[in-house]
Amino acid sequence: MEGKPPVLSVKGLTTQFIGRKNTSVTVVDGVDLLVKKGETLGIVGESGCGKSVTSLSIMRLLGKNGRVVSGQVEFEGKDLLTLEEKEMRKIRGNRLAMIFQEPMTSLNPVLTIGRQIGEVLQLHTPLGWEERKKRTIELIAQVGIPRAQDIFGEYPHRLSGGMRQRVMIAMAMACHPQLLIADEPTTALDVTIQAQMLTLIRDMRAKAGMSVMLITHDLGVVAEMCDRVLVMYAGQVIESADVRTLLRHPKHPYTMGLIQAVPHNARGKKRLYAISGNVPSPGEWPQGCRFAPRCQEAKPICHTQNPPLLKMKDGSECRCWLHEPIATEEAAEGRDAI
Ligand SMILES: Nc1ncnc2c1ncn2[C@@H]1O[C@H](COP(=O)(O)OP(=O)(O)OP(=O)(O)O)[C@@H](O)[C@H]1O
Ligand code: SF4
Ligand SMILES: [Mg+2]
Repeated sequence: MEGKPPVLSVKGLTTQFIGRKNTSVTVVDGVDLLVKKGETLGIVGESGCGKSVTSLSIMRLLGKNGRVVSGQVEFEGKDLLTLEEKEMRKIRGNRLAMIFQEPMTSLNPVLTIGRQIGEVLQLHTPLGWEERKKRTIELIAQVGIPRAQDIFGEYPHRLSGGMRQRVMIAMAMACHPQLLIADEPTTALDVTIQAQMLTLIRDMRAKAGMSVMLITHDLGVVAEMCDRVLVMYAGQVIESADVRTLLRHPKHPYTMGLIQAVPHNARGKKRLYAISGNVPSPGEWPQGCRFAPRCQEAKPICHTQNPPLLKMKDGSECRCWLHEPIATEEAAEGRDAI
């Protein structure tokens, strides 16, 4: 994956929402990320750390009260943040597609499934009505929805959560995107359907050579699906590494906590480990390291200065004062014992 060119390159992405009394609150704070051709990048972190807002910023779908205040989002050589909305509409759903966290809010309840998938094809392809219908039915069948002909005429509320997720995938795949952003595509689904969804995304990736940015809470899904992982905390990237390095040699105390909290790591302990405390809300981030109030390793500097994201010798990146800028292999291994 090393030499592959990036499909998406995000630099310094900072997003704010207008809150109560018209004050701006920063929610995503200087995020850098790269997705290379054909790779799957995982984004993990607890609820509220800015995963969805990062992806909605990339797609330019923040809604009225949100805005990107600085940064660059380069996709296939174009800075998406400076494009006219008309140009952006040509890319969205076509070269760049997204599966949203809430399928019900992104499917239109008053339009049939066939019409909604057909509209994507109408917008981005020269296909006529008959051909669109044929292709739509094919897409519905491809994502494993039975009775594709009948489902074509159904409304979203008549389908189960799992089926609605499949419809979202069919819509996202309609134009063979170069990059699929999948925001928690399996959280609301039962285990069997979860596995089917992941297989579906993996198959599509293999067939189409597509890249994927996969947002998930589930480190099991990360281990199975991702090449590289980025860990977010309170609006920032706090660690990034290839998947094996991250899961075997995590460096940031927060990442270590997330890994320890995975059930199969409980090693027979009666109570499952949980990181104590909560993610601070945007607008209430502490002055120093944002994880300091929950960190068992915190030292005085942690409470006054937020550490920079530093490059480690093994190629990973970590935002923590425990690591020296030119951290040695030994130092990194020493940390693993904690
Ligand atoms: N439209 C909005 N207006 C104001 N604040 C928002 C809006 N959307 C998100 N936020 C805030 O931005 C922060 C980051 O939210 P985001 O949805 O990106 O979290 P997340 O990491 O995706 O969490 P989850 O795992 O629960 O999906 C949260 O504090 C959230 O309350
Ligand atoms: S910088 Fe300090 S408080 Fe933050 S994670 Fe590292 S040790 Fe913990
Ligand atoms: Mg989210």
